[in-house]
Amino acid sequence: MDLNPHNDRTVASRKHNLSGALDDQLEEIVELGLMRHLREIDSPQGVNVQVEGHECLNYSSNDYLGLANHPALKEAAIKAIEKYGVGSGASRLICGNLRPHVELEETIAAFKGTEAALAFSSGYAAAVGTVSALLGRDDIVVVDKLTHASLIDGARLSGAKLRAFAHNDLQKLETILKWATRLQGEAVHARRILVITESVFSMDGDLAPLKNIAELTHQYGGWLLVDEAHSVGLFGEQRRGLAEAFEMHDDIDIHFGTLGKAIGSAGGYVAGNATLINFLINKARSFIFSTAPLPAVSAAATAGIRLIQSEEGEVRRQRVWSLIDHLKSELLVQGITPPPTQSSIIPIVLGQETRARKIAAELLKKGIYVPAIRYPTVAMGKARLRVSMTANHEVEQIKLLCHMLGETMNEFPEGWTDEDARPA
Ligand SMILES: Cc1ncc(COP(=O)(O)O)c(C=O)c1O
Repeated sequence: MDLNPHNDRTVASRKHNLSGALDDQLEEIVELGLMRHLREIDSPQGVNVQVEGHECLNYSSNDYLGLANHPALKEAAIKAIEKYGVGSGASRLICGNLRPHVELEETIAAFKGTEAALAFSSGYAAAVGTVSALLGRDDIVVVDKLTHASLIDGARLSGAKLRAFAHNDLQKLETILKWATRLQGEAVHARRILVITESVFSMDGDLAPLKNIAELTHQYGGWLLVDEAHSVGLFGEQRRGLAEAFEMHDDIDIHFGTLGKAIGSAGGYVAGNATLINFLINKARSFIFSTAPLPAVSAAATAGIRLIQSEEGEVRRQRVWSLIDHLKSELLVQGITPPPTQSSIIPIVLGQETRARKIAAELLKKGIYVPAIRYPTVAMGKARLRVSMTANHEVEQIKLLCHMLGETMNEFPEGWTDEDARPA
Protein backbone atom coordinates (compact mmCIF):
# COMPACT_ATOMS: atom_id res chain seq x y z
CA MET A 1 0.00 0.00 0.00
CA ASP A 2 1.32 3.45 -0.91
CA LEU A 3 1.15 5.55 2.25
CA ASN A 4 3.19 8.42 0.91
CA PRO A 5 1.16 11.53 1.91
CA HIS A 6 2.56 13.36 -1.13
CA ASN A 7 1.02 10.92 -3.51
CA ASP A 8 -1.99 12.89 -4.81
CA ARG A 9 -4.02 9.84 -5.74
CA THR A 10 -3.78 8.29 -2.24
CA VAL A 11 -4.74 11.56 -0.54
CA ALA A 12 -7.65 12.16 -2.90
CA SER A 13 -9.10 8.68 -2.48
CA ARG A 14 -8.77 8.77 1.32
CA LYS A 15 -10.53 12.13 1.40
CA HIS A 16 -13.23 10.80 -0.86
CA ASN A 17 -13.82 7.80 1.39
CA LEU A 18 -13.95 9.94 4.50
CA SER A 19 -16.55 12.32 3.06
CA GLY A 20 -18.54 9.46 1.57
CA ALA A 21 -18.74 7.62 4.88
CA LEU A 22 -19.58 10.72 6.88
CA ASP A 23 -22.16 11.93 4.37
CA ASP A 24 -24.03 8.64 4.73
CA GLN A 25 -24.14 9.07 8.47
CA LEU A 26 -25.19 12.71 8.21
CA GLU A 27 -28.00 11.67 5.87
CA GLU A 28 -29.31 9.28 8.54
CA ILE A 29 -29.22 12.10 11.11
CA VAL A 30 -31.22 14.33 8.74
CA GLU A 31 -33.82 11.58 8.10
CA LEU A 32 -34.40 11.23 11.83
CA GLY A 33 -34.93 14.98 12.19
CA LEU A 34 -31.85 15.15 14.41
CA MET A 35 -29.53 17.36 12.38
CA ARG A 36 -27.89 20.06 14.49
CA HIS A 37 -26.16 23.17 13.31
CA LEU A 38 -24.58 26.21 14.83
CA ARG A 39 -26.33 29.57 15.00
CA GLU A 40 -24.18 32.65 15.23
CA ILE A 41 -25.03 35.14 17.96
CA ASP A 42 -23.51 38.56 17.61
CA SER A 43 -24.36 40.16 20.95
CA PRO A 44 -23.64 39.60 24.63
CA GLN A 45 -25.61 36.93 26.48
CA GLY A 46 -28.85 38.40 27.72
CA VAL A 47 -32.58 38.55 27.15
CA ASN A 48 -32.19 40.34 23.78
CA VAL A 49 -29.77 38.61 21.46
CA GLN A 50 -28.86 39.01 17.79
CA VAL A 51 -29.35 35.57 16.26
CA GLU A 52 -28.05 35.47 12.69
CA GLY A 53 -28.75 39.15 12.25
CA HIS A 54 -32.22 39.12 13.86
CA GLU A 55 -33.07 40.60 17.24
CA CYS A 56 -34.63 37.83 19.36
CA LEU A 57 -35.91 37.29 22.86
CA ASN A 58 -33.72 34.62 24.39
CA TYR A 59 -35.22 31.80 26.45
CA SER A 60 -32.40 29.35 25.97
CA SER A 61 -29.63 30.47 28.30
CA ASN A 62 -28.35 28.94 31.54
CA ASP A 63 -27.29 32.41 32.65
CA TYR A 64 -30.04 32.14 35.26
CA LEU A 65 -29.07 35.13 37.38
CA GLY A 66 -28.16 37.31 34.40
CA LEU A 67 -24.49 37.61 35.37
CA ALA A 68 -22.79 36.71 32.07
CA ASN A 69 -22.79 40.35 30.96
CA HIS A 70 -22.81 41.92 34.46
CA PRO A 71 -20.49 44.95 34.97
CA ALA A 72 -18.88 43.37 38.05
CA LEU A 73 -17.83 40.26 36.12
CA LYS A 74 -16.67 42.25 33.13
CA GLU A 75 -14.60 44.52 35.36
CA ALA A 76 -12.99 41.52 37.10
CA ALA A 77 -12.10 39.97 33.74
CA ILE A 78 -10.67 43.22 32.35
CA LYS A 79 -8.57 43.80 35.48
CA ALA A 80 -7.24 40.23 35.27
CA ILE A 81 -6.30 40.73 31.62
CA GLU A 82 -4.52 43.98 32.50
CA LYS A 83 -2.55 42.27 35.27
CA TYR A 84 -2.01 38.74 33.91
CA GLY A 85 -2.50 39.04 30.14
CA VAL A 86 -4.68 36.61 28.23
CA GLY A 87 -3.13 33.15 28.06
CA SER A 88 -2.20 30.96 31.04
CA GLY A 89 0.92 29.66 29.34
CA ALA A 90 0.82 26.07 30.56
CA SER A 91 -1.05 23.61 32.73
CA ARG A 92 -1.58 24.46 36.39
CA LEU A 93 1.14 22.00 37.45
CA ILE A 94 3.74 23.51 35.11
CA CYS A 95 3.70 27.33 35.28
CA GLY A 96 0.01 28.12 34.76
CA ASN A 97 -1.08 28.29 38.41
CA LEU A 98 -1.92 31.99 38.58
CA ARG A 99 -3.33 33.98 41.46
CA PRO A 100 -6.87 34.20 39.91
CA HIS A 101 -7.05 30.36 39.83
CA VAL A 102 -6.03 30.09 43.49
CA GLU A 103 -8.41 32.87 44.49
CA LEU A 104 -11.25 31.17 42.60
CA GLU A 105 -10.68 27.87 44.41
CA GLU A 106 -10.56 29.61 47.80
CA THR A 107 -13.81 31.37 46.89
CA ILE A 108 -15.52 28.15 45.74
CA ALA A 109 -14.47 26.29 48.92
CA ALA A 110 -15.74 29.13 51.15
CA PHE A 111 -19.00 29.35 49.16
CA LYS A 112 -19.64 25.60 49.18
CA GLY A 113 -18.48 25.24 52.80
CA THR A 114 -15.81 22.64 52.04
CA GLU A 115 -12.14 22.33 52.97
CA ALA A 116 -10.91 22.75 49.41
CA ALA A 117 -11.91 22.99 45.76
CA LEU A 118 -10.40 22.41 42.34
CA ALA A 119 -11.31 24.37 39.21
CA PHE A 120 -11.24 22.84 35.72
CA SER A 121 -11.48 24.55 32.34
CA SER A 122 -15.01 23.18 31.83
CA GLY A 123 -17.63 21.19 33.67
CA TYR A 124 -17.14 18.47 31.08
CA ALA A 125 -13.42 18.28 31.86
CA ALA A 126 -14.17 18.25 35.59
CA ALA A 127 -16.61 15.35 35.16
CA VAL A 128 -14.45 13.22 32.91
CA GLY A 129 -11.30 13.83 34.97
CA THR A 130 -12.88 13.31 38.37
CA VAL A 131 -14.83 10.12 37.77
CA SER A 132 -12.03 8.45 35.82
CA ALA A 133 -9.53 9.37 38.55
CA LEU A 134 -11.66 8.01 41.39
CA LEU A 135 -12.62 4.69 39.80
CA GLY A 136 -10.96 1.88 37.92
CA ARG A 137 -11.97 -1.40 36.31
CA ASP A 138 -12.71 -3.14 39.60
CA ASP A 139 -15.13 -0.47 40.80
CA ILE A 140 -18.82 0.22 40.33
CA VAL A 141 -20.48 3.44 39.28
CA VAL A 142 -24.22 3.91 39.66
CA VAL A 143 -25.91 6.83 37.89
CA ASP A 144 -29.39 8.23 37.57
CA LYS A 145 -30.44 7.54 33.98
CA LEU A 146 -30.78 11.26 33.25
CA THR A 147 -27.37 12.24 34.60
CA HIS A 148 -25.47 14.62 32.32
CA ALA A 149 -23.43 13.11 29.46
CA SER A 150 -20.15 14.47 30.87
CA LEU A 151 -20.45 12.32 34.00
CA ILE A 152 -21.56 9.28 32.02
CA ASP A 153 -18.53 9.75 29.76
CA GLY A 154 -16.30 9.96 32.86
CA ALA A 155 -17.87 6.74 34.15
CA ARG A 156 -17.26 4.99 30.83
CA LEU A 157 -13.69 6.23 30.65
CA SER A 158 -12.96 4.91 34.15
CA GLY A 159 -13.67 1.35 32.98
CA ALA A 160 -15.77 0.75 36.12
CA LYS A 161 -18.94 -1.33 35.89
CA LEU A 162 -21.64 1.19 34.98
CA ARG A 163 -25.26 0.74 36.07
CA ALA A 164 -28.06 3.27 35.56
CA PHE A 165 -31.18 3.43 37.73
CA ALA A 166 -34.50 4.68 36.33
CA HIS A 167 -34.81 8.40 36.87
CA ASN A 168 -35.23 9.26 40.57
CA ASP A 169 -36.27 5.66 41.30
CA LEU A 170 -35.01 4.83 44.80
CA GLN A 171 -36.10 1.19 44.65
CA LYS A 172 -34.08 0.65 41.50
CA LEU A 173 -31.12 2.41 43.08
CA GLU A 174 -31.30 0.13 46.12
CA THR A 175 -31.52 -2.99 43.93
CA ILE A 176 -28.33 -1.96 42.15
CA LEU A 177 -26.59 -1.08 45.42
CA LYS A 178 -27.46 -4.53 46.83
CA TRP A 179 -25.96 -6.15 43.73
CA ALA A 180 -22.89 -3.90 44.05
CA THR A 181 -22.27 -4.90 47.67
CA ARG A 182 -22.58 -8.58 46.72
CA LEU A 183 -19.86 -8.02 44.10
CA GLN A 184 -17.86 -6.14 46.69
CA GLY A 185 -18.06 -9.15 48.99
CA GLU A 186 -16.68 -11.43 46.30
CA ALA A 187 -13.76 -9.17 45.37
CA VAL A 188 -10.24 -9.72 46.65
CA HIS A 189 -9.75 -5.97 46.88
CA ALA A 190 -12.64 -3.91 48.23
CA ARG A 191 -14.41 -2.39 45.26
CA ARG A 192 -15.41 1.25 45.35
CA ILE A 193 -19.01 2.25 44.73
CA LEU A 194 -19.74 5.74 43.44
CA VAL A 195 -23.30 7.03 43.07
CA ILE A 196 -23.84 10.02 40.78
CA THR A 197 -26.86 12.25 40.36
CA GLU A 198 -27.72 15.79 39.37
CA SER A 199 -29.64 17.85 41.91
CA VAL A 200 -31.74 19.74 39.33
CA PHE A 201 -31.93 17.79 36.08
CA SER A 202 -30.74 19.80 33.13
CA MET A 203 -33.37 18.86 30.55
CA ASP A 204 -36.33 18.07 32.81
CA GLY A 205 -35.90 20.71 35.49
CA ASP A 206 -37.04 18.34 38.25
CA LEU A 207 -35.27 17.70 41.55
CA ALA A 208 -33.51 14.59 42.81
CA PRO A 209 -34.59 13.13 46.18
CA LEU A 210 -31.10 13.88 47.42
CA LYS A 211 -31.66 12.96 51.07
CA ASN A 212 -32.88 9.47 50.24
CA ILE A 213 -30.15 8.97 47.67
CA ALA A 214 -27.49 9.96 50.23
CA GLU A 215 -28.97 7.65 52.88
CA LEU A 216 -29.03 4.67 50.53
CA THR A 217 -25.56 5.38 49.14
CA HIS A 218 -23.99 5.52 52.58
CA GLN A 219 -25.99 2.56 53.91
CA TYR A 220 -24.38 0.46 51.18
CA GLY A 221 -20.91 1.92 51.69
CA GLY A 222 -20.79 4.11 48.58
CA TRP A 223 -19.62 7.64 47.90
CA LEU A 224 -22.00 10.28 46.57
CA LEU A 225 -21.22 12.81 43.83
CA VAL A 226 -23.89 15.46 43.24
CA ASP A 227 -23.83 17.71 40.18
CA GLU A 228 -25.33 21.06 41.21
CA ALA A 229 -24.82 22.70 37.79
CA HIS A 230 -28.44 23.92 37.61
CA SER A 231 -29.15 24.62 41.28
CA VAL A 232 -26.29 26.81 42.48
CA GLY A 233 -27.46 30.41 42.78
CA LEU A 234 -31.14 29.45 42.92
CA PHE A 235 -31.52 27.13 45.92
CA GLY A 236 -30.56 27.48 49.60
CA GLU A 237 -30.35 30.46 51.91
CA GLN A 238 -26.73 31.03 50.92
CA ARG A 239 -27.60 30.08 47.34
CA ARG A 240 -25.15 27.15 47.45
CA GLY A 241 -27.58 24.74 45.80
CA LEU A 242 -30.14 22.06 46.55
CA ALA A 243 -28.01 20.23 49.14
CA GLU A 244 -28.04 23.40 51.21
CA ALA A 245 -31.81 23.82 50.75
CA PHE A 246 -32.31 20.20 51.91
CA GLU A 247 -29.90 20.77 54.85
CA MET A 248 -27.72 17.84 53.85
CA HIS A 249 -24.54 19.53 52.80
CA ASP A 250 -22.32 17.19 54.83
CA ASP A 251 -23.94 14.08 53.33
CA ILE A 252 -22.32 14.73 49.97
CA ASP A 253 -18.81 13.39 49.44
CA ILE A 254 -18.10 15.15 46.15
CA HIS A 255 -19.70 18.51 45.40
CA PHE A 256 -19.64 19.05 41.66
CA GLY A 257 -20.67 22.03 39.56
CA THR A 258 -20.07 24.42 36.71
CA LEU A 259 -19.03 28.06 36.57
CA GLY A 260 -20.78 28.76 33.27
CA LYS A 261 -24.42 28.80 34.32
CA ALA A 262 -25.74 30.95 37.23
CA ILE A 263 -22.15 31.92 38.12
CA GLY A 264 -21.90 33.66 34.75
CA SER A 265 -18.40 32.69 33.56
CA ALA A 266 -17.04 29.31 32.35
CA GLY A 267 -15.37 26.24 33.85
CA GLY A 268 -16.16 23.41 36.24
CA TYR A 269 -15.26 22.57 39.81
CA VAL A 270 -15.11 19.88 42.43
CA ALA A 271 -15.35 20.81 46.12
CA GLY A 272 -14.79 18.52 49.08
CA ASN A 273 -12.19 17.58 51.61
CA ALA A 274 -8.50 18.40 51.17
CA THR A 275 -7.55 14.76 50.51
CA LEU A 276 -10.02 14.50 47.64
CA ILE A 277 -8.71 17.69 46.05
CA ASN A 278 -5.07 16.68 46.54
CA PHE A 279 -5.88 13.32 44.94
CA LEU A 280 -7.49 14.97 41.92
CA ILE A 281 -4.55 17.35 41.44
CA ASN A 282 -2.40 14.23 41.13
CA LYS A 283 -4.77 11.93 39.26
CA ALA A 284 -7.35 13.83 37.19
CA ARG A 285 -5.91 13.68 33.68
CA SER A 286 -8.15 16.44 32.28
CA PHE A 287 -6.67 18.71 34.96
CA ILE A 288 -3.05 17.58 34.66
CA PHE A 289 -2.75 17.49 30.89
CA SER A 290 -4.57 20.68 29.98
CA THR A 291 -3.62 24.35 29.81
CA ALA A 292 -4.96 26.27 32.81
CA PRO A 293 -8.16 28.30 32.30
CA LEU A 294 -7.67 31.91 31.20
CA PRO A 295 -7.04 34.04 34.30
CA ALA A 296 -9.77 36.46 33.15
CA VAL A 297 -12.32 33.63 33.09
CA SER A 298 -11.39 32.53 36.61
CA ALA A 299 -11.46 36.12 37.89
CA ALA A 300 -14.94 36.57 36.39
CA ALA A 301 -16.09 33.34 38.07
CA THR A 302 -14.81 34.59 41.44
CA ALA A 303 -16.73 37.85 40.90
CA GLY A 304 -19.83 35.82 39.95
CA ILE A 305 -19.71 33.76 43.16
CA ARG A 306 -19.20 36.89 45.26
CA LEU A 307 -22.18 38.50 43.57
CA ILE A 308 -24.32 35.44 44.24
CA GLN A 309 -23.32 35.67 47.92
CA SER A 310 -24.25 39.37 48.08
CA GLU A 311 -27.64 40.97 48.67
CA GLU A 312 -27.94 41.53 44.92
CA GLY A 313 -27.58 37.77 44.48
CA GLU A 314 -30.61 37.20 46.71
CA VAL A 315 -32.64 39.88 44.90
CA ARG A 316 -31.83 38.27 41.55
CA ARG A 317 -32.70 34.81 42.86
CA GLN A 318 -36.09 36.00 44.18
CA ARG A 319 -36.82 37.62 40.84
CA VAL A 320 -36.17 34.37 38.93
CA TRP A 321 -38.59 32.50 41.20
CA SER A 322 -41.32 35.08 40.75
CA LEU A 323 -40.84 35.01 36.95
CA ILE A 324 -41.09 31.20 37.00
CA ASP A 325 -44.52 31.59 38.65
CA HIS A 326 -45.56 34.12 36.00
CA LEU A 327 -44.43 31.79 33.23
CA LYS A 328 -46.40 28.86 34.62
CA SER A 329 -49.60 30.85 34.94
CA GLU A 330 -49.21 32.37 31.45
CA LEU A 331 -48.72 28.89 29.98
CA LEU A 332 -52.00 27.84 31.56
CA VAL A 333 -53.74 30.87 30.00
CA GLN A 334 -52.58 29.53 26.62
CA GLY A 335 -53.89 26.03 27.40
CA ILE A 336 -50.40 24.59 27.87
CA THR A 337 -49.98 22.55 31.05
CA PRO A 338 -46.73 23.60 32.70
CA PRO A 339 -44.51 20.80 33.93
CA PRO A 340 -44.66 20.22 37.68
CA THR A 341 -41.03 21.27 38.04
CA GLN A 342 -39.58 23.62 40.61
CA SER A 343 -36.61 25.17 38.90
CA SER A 344 -35.71 27.70 36.25
CA ILE A 345 -35.82 24.97 33.57
CA ILE A 346 -39.31 24.60 32.15
CA PRO A 347 -39.47 21.92 29.44
CA ILE A 348 -42.43 21.85 27.07
CA VAL A 349 -42.35 18.23 25.96
CA LEU A 350 -43.61 17.87 22.36
CA GLY A 351 -42.57 14.30 21.60
CA GLN A 352 -41.72 14.00 17.95
CA GLU A 353 -38.32 15.37 16.89
CA THR A 354 -39.42 16.98 13.60
CA ARG A 355 -42.35 18.75 15.29
CA ALA A 356 -40.12 20.15 18.03
CA ARG A 357 -37.66 21.39 15.45
CA LYS A 358 -40.41 22.92 13.31
CA ILE A 359 -41.99 24.77 16.23
CA ALA A 360 -38.59 26.08 17.40
CA ALA A 361 -37.81 27.27 13.83
CA GLU A 362 -41.19 29.02 13.52
CA LEU A 363 -40.72 30.70 16.90
CA LEU A 364 -37.30 31.91 15.81
CA LYS A 365 -38.90 33.53 12.74
CA LYS A 366 -41.23 35.32 15.16
CA GLY A 367 -38.26 36.57 17.21
CA ILE A 368 -38.40 34.00 20.03
CA TYR A 369 -35.30 31.91 20.62
CA VAL A 370 -36.10 28.63 22.41
CA PRO A 371 -34.03 25.59 21.53
CA ALA A 372 -35.55 22.28 20.45
CA ILE A 373 -33.81 19.62 22.53
CA ARG A 374 -33.71 16.25 20.81
CA TYR A 375 -32.02 12.87 20.90
CA PRO A 376 -29.33 12.12 22.00
CA THR A 377 -29.62 14.91 24.61
CA VAL A 378 -33.03 13.46 25.60
CA ALA A 379 -34.62 10.10 24.82
CA MET A 380 -36.03 9.47 21.33
CA GLY A 381 -39.67 10.59 21.10
CA LYS A 382 -39.22 12.98 24.06
CA ALA A 383 -38.16 16.04 22.07
CA ARG A 384 -38.96 19.31 23.79
CA LEU A 385 -38.61 23.04 23.90
CA ARG A 386 -36.44 23.89 26.87
CA VAL A 387 -37.48 27.27 28.23
CA SER A 388 -35.22 28.77 30.85
CA MET A 389 -35.94 31.79 32.99
CA THR A 390 -33.38 34.38 33.98
CA ALA A 391 -33.43 37.30 36.40
CA ASN A 392 -33.31 39.79 33.51
CA HIS A 393 -36.56 38.72 31.82
CA GLU A 394 -39.61 40.99 32.07
CA VAL A 395 -43.20 39.94 32.73
CA GLU A 396 -44.33 41.39 29.36
CA GLN A 397 -41.72 39.29 27.57
CA ILE A 398 -43.00 36.17 29.29
CA LYS A 399 -46.55 36.96 28.14
CA LEU A 400 -45.30 37.35 24.58
CA LEU A 401 -43.40 34.06 24.76
CA CYS A 402 -46.47 32.16 25.97
CA HIS A 403 -48.73 33.77 23.37
CA MET A 404 -46.31 32.83 20.58
CA LEU A 405 -45.90 29.33 21.98
CA GLY A 406 -49.66 28.75 22.12
CA GLU A 407 -50.14 30.11 18.58
CA THR A 408 -47.29 28.07 17.05
CA MET A 409 -48.17 24.84 18.86
CA ASN A 410 -51.71 25.19 17.44
CA GLU A 411 -50.33 25.72 13.93
CA PHE A 412 -48.34 22.49 14.25
CA PRO A 413 -50.50 20.30 16.52
CA GLU A 414 -49.69 16.90 17.97
CA GLY A 415 -49.35 14.33 15.22
CA TRP A 416 -48.09 16.93 12.72
CA THR A 417 -45.50 15.48 10.37
CA ASP A 418 -43.49 17.03 7.62
CA GLU A 419 -42.29 14.41 5.19
CA ASP A 420 -39.98 16.93 3.64
CA ALA A 421 -38.64 18.15 6.97
CA ARG A 422 -35.08 19.27 6.49
CA PRO A 423 -32.93 21.42 8.75
CA ALA A 424 -33.89 25.07 8.55
C1 LIG B 1 -25.76 19.03 34.56
C2 LIG B 1 -24.53 19.45 33.83
N1 LIG B 1 -23.34 18.97 34.24
C3 LIG B 1 -22.20 19.30 33.60
C4 LIG B 1 -22.21 20.14 32.50
C5 LIG B 1 -20.92 20.44 31.79
O1 LIG B 1 -20.50 21.73 32.11
P1 LIG B 1 -19.72 22.68 31.09
O2 LIG B 1 -20.75 23.27 30.17
O3 LIG B 1 -19.07 23.68 31.98
O4 LIG B 1 -18.73 21.84 30.36
C6 LIG B 1 -23.41 20.68 32.07
C7 LIG B 1 -23.44 21.63 30.95
O5 LIG B 1 -23.83 21.64 29.93
C8 LIG B 1 -24.62 20.31 32.73
O6 LIG B 1 -25.80 20.76 32.31
